[in-house]
Amino acid sequence: MFRLEILLVIALLLFARSANAGDVSAERGESLIARKGCGACHSTDGSARQGPTFRGLFGAKRTVTTGGASREVTADRDYLTRAMRDPDADVVAGFPRGTMPKYPLVDDEIASITLAIEKLAAPAAEPAHRGSTTPLFVSAAAFTGLHLLLSSIPVRRRLIAALSQRGFAGVYSLLVAAAFAGMIFGYVKAPYVEVWLPPRGMRWMPLLVMPFAILLMVAGFSTRGPTTVGGEALASQESASLGVFSITRHPALWGFALWGMSHTLANGELRAVVLFLAVLTLALVGMVHIDRRRAAELGEAWTKYQERTSLVPFAAIMGGRAELDLRGIGWARFAAAIVIYVGVLHTHHLVIGASPLP
Ligand code: HEC
Repeated sequence: MFRLEILLVIALLLFARSANAGDVSAERGESLIARKGCGACHSTDGSARQGPTFRGLFGAKRTVTTGGASREVTADRDYLTRAMRDPDADVVAGFPRGTMPKYPLVDDEIASITLAIEKLAAPAAEPAHRGSTTPLFVSAAAFTGLHLLLSSIPVRRRLIAALSQRGFAGVYSLLVAAAFAGMIFGYVKAPYVEVWLPPRGMRWMPLLVMPFAILLMVAGFSTRGPTTVGGEALASQESASLGVFSITRHPALWGFALWGMSHTLANGELRAVVLFLAVLTLALVGMVHIDRRRAAELGEAWTKYQERTSLVPFAAIMGGRAELDLRGIGWARFAAAIVIYVGVLHTHHLVIGASPLP
């Protein structure tokens, strides 16, 4: 059941990117200008400080010194981007060289600041209304809640009795798809709201965690076991506690949990936090849920299986109930995980709009 949802969440991220150009927005730019202390040298009201004011800067003519020669330029996006990337390339006439610090800003931050500066050129043109985060909250709660409600044993049993197995599957998919469509809508409509500004070092978190998360997902999806759909009968087989199952009996869901956790920590933006917390919650609660259902369905066989494996990664190994079986995972899965990781690193920026590098 989870496989479909995973594809849906990935599609959401792709869609949100194309519909909303990632997290590039004037609101984020304003917040960055405030947080990075640009205001110490750049006013937004036209007054002079150590550096030129941002008011009326966009589209204005500047006289700058480039490599010792004076020239006239228009303050367009390219110019502003250059001014932030390499402050000493063009030095504004009347201001000292070497005063403006070189900030380690990534592309989407620079683009957001540029938008904020653009806004200061035409203050009246900006519509006052801002989006709301409510649709995203409601649909994320529905997406998570529906999964848990519909797969709880009593609800499931009753619905299957009333609707037949196929009818139940249809209703399940329809409701989850509706909540999912709500999430897309809510994500795209949500305004930029900063919950916190993660320290730059936090950007290392997903970089370091994702190789393991991807390996767990790859191994989890390509290995049949008692916790996967239709794998109940495997519980009593020896192979069910080997390979990746020697680490945890819920490898794929742990992959999602690690993805959600590392990305929640690295993103201070509200809509991303809501999305990744939904992934994290669904993954963690999903594990407990599957365990309960299997216990009810399989009885003794499941109890024995639980003794040989653990929900928490490495817990069975540390408790002396299992032995780490890396060989059983197989080199092909390690190789596939590395290829996927490198691929995601290279396409993350294009697809999601945010650079994955610290
Ligand atoms: C310590 C003072 C200082 C801080 C802090 C500072 N700047 Fe500057 N900035 C300057 C000075 C001085 C200039 C003009 C000289 C030059 O072009 O290097 C300048 C120029 C610029 C320009 C070109 C402006 C123009 O009129 O053409 C931009 C854009 C800019 N800064 C953006 C930023 C941003 C964004 C930040 C915060 C992330 C920032 N600055 C922080 C001092 C500062």
